[in-house]
Amino acid sequence: MQIIKVEGGHTLSGEVYVEGAKNSVLKLMAATIMAPGVYRISRVPNISDVAVMSNVLRELGAQVDRIDHQLIIDTSNADGYSTPYELVKKMRASIAVLGPLLARHGKARVSMPGGCQIGERKLDLHFLSLEHLGTNFEFEHGVVKASAPNGLHAASIYLDFASVGATENIMMAAVVAKGTTIIDNAAREPEIVDLANFLNKMGAKITGAGSPVITIEGVSQESLHATDHETVGDRIEAGTFVVAGALCGDKVKVRGFKPEHLGLALQKIRQMGVSIEYLEDGVIVSKPEHLNAIDIQTLPYPGFPTDMQAQLMVMTSLAQGNSIITENVFENRFMFAGELIRMGANIRVDGHHAISQGVTKLSGAPVASTDLRGGAALVLAGLVADGTTMISGIEHINRGYEDFVGKLNQLGAKLSLVEQEAALDEE
Ligand code: EPZ
Repeated sequence: MQIIKVEGGHTLSGEVYVEGAKNSVLKLMAATIMAPGVYRISRVPNISDVAVMSNVLRELGAQVDRIDHQLIIDTSNADGYSTPYELVKKMRASIAVLGPLLARHGKARVSMPGGCQIGERKLDLHFLSLEHLGTNFEFEHGVVKASAPNGLHAASIYLDFASVGATENIMMAAVVAKGTTIIDNAAREPEIVDLANFLNKMGAKITGAGSPVITIEGVSQESLHATDHETVGDRIEAGTFVVAGALCGDKVKVRGFKPEHLGLALQKIRQMGVSIEYLEDGVIVSKPEHLNAIDIQTLPYPGFPTDMQAQLMVMTSLAQGNSIITENVFENRFMFAGELIRMGANIRVDGHHAISQGVTKLSGAPVASTDLRGGAALVLAGLVADGTTMISGIEHINRGYEDFVGKLNQLGAKLSLVEQEAALDEE
């Protein structure tokens, strides 16, 4: 079992170019089921979630080949409509095939993904909304059996919560629903806009993506066709490197994303005293003399992104004063704090709030990744901790970050991948 060994105390500089967005590309891949043909998707990150989604598509009869950062997906013979549990349990996002399967085949058998470290990850909004579009559901033995015997029809849908996944599944199913579907209180993330652009290139008629009200005018299944697409830059991967620069950088250039896709996150980081220079396709960031405390509330986009919460918690643990972090999106996304406390942070968690009282330094220690973003944040903490930090559970990090170790080392960090046993011997 490999772990990441981080030697703290090095200054980062230079340039890093981020990949295409994990939280867009997984849905673009699912959408290729909706119309038979050959699709070319570029800027596809080399991460394990993409490998799992590729296998889900293969299970459905698609052919998926990768050439460098491009995927060629042929869904001409993707006649399957059921996804096996062993693949779904590896990646919850496979639920994104539900809408496309209903659109293409009028039925789906999708294993219920379980919860995960950060929360229960309910799907009630997906099912309730798809029912409004004419879908019947049966749930048995952990399998969701969905069918639209009379085809899908339009509806006006009001989401209790601006769920990213629910918005995406409804939008994809509604593409071929008869009539005009409205999604109100829709998620507004840049990845939703990227998916809507992709669907429109396939022949869909979607307007309003990126605003709270999305309108989908139904078109015939036959009118949909394959297309090519470049995935939008990964704003969360970018934000993770921005925090690395804020902690120990000297003019670190993070490129390949739109700074406006990280609007509030960058504003909060600047309010903590970090200097950020904006470029057309990125930012330049340097560590300040000291960090100011800050209060953060995670909310659906354009609110502060929950996927940047752990990274900002590392910054608050070294800020002057007390910061309050409120997690409003997931019910259990503070497990990471326990690991940061092992490194000397002074954090008290109370339900949805974490009070982080800045300390003068963190000290390297053996820690365990609890989830994707928590794992990445532990690496960030290791960059500035005294001594060496050993991070296990790196399979979480590999789900969403391509070559995280290599990219940080290119900026001047000192990270290495070591076997767990060897690392224990070194202790
Ligand atoms: C997407 O998850 C992202 N994943 C998450 O990124 C991200 O944190 C999340 O959106 C919020 O931005 C992918 O895109 C693959 P939600 P998703 O539906 O779609 C509740 C990462 O680190 N909810 O907006 O699952 C749910 O329980 C990952 O890259 C319901 O109650 O997020 C959660 O508390 C982590 N009922 C909240 O909404 C539903 O039917 C947000 O869920 C659906 C959701």
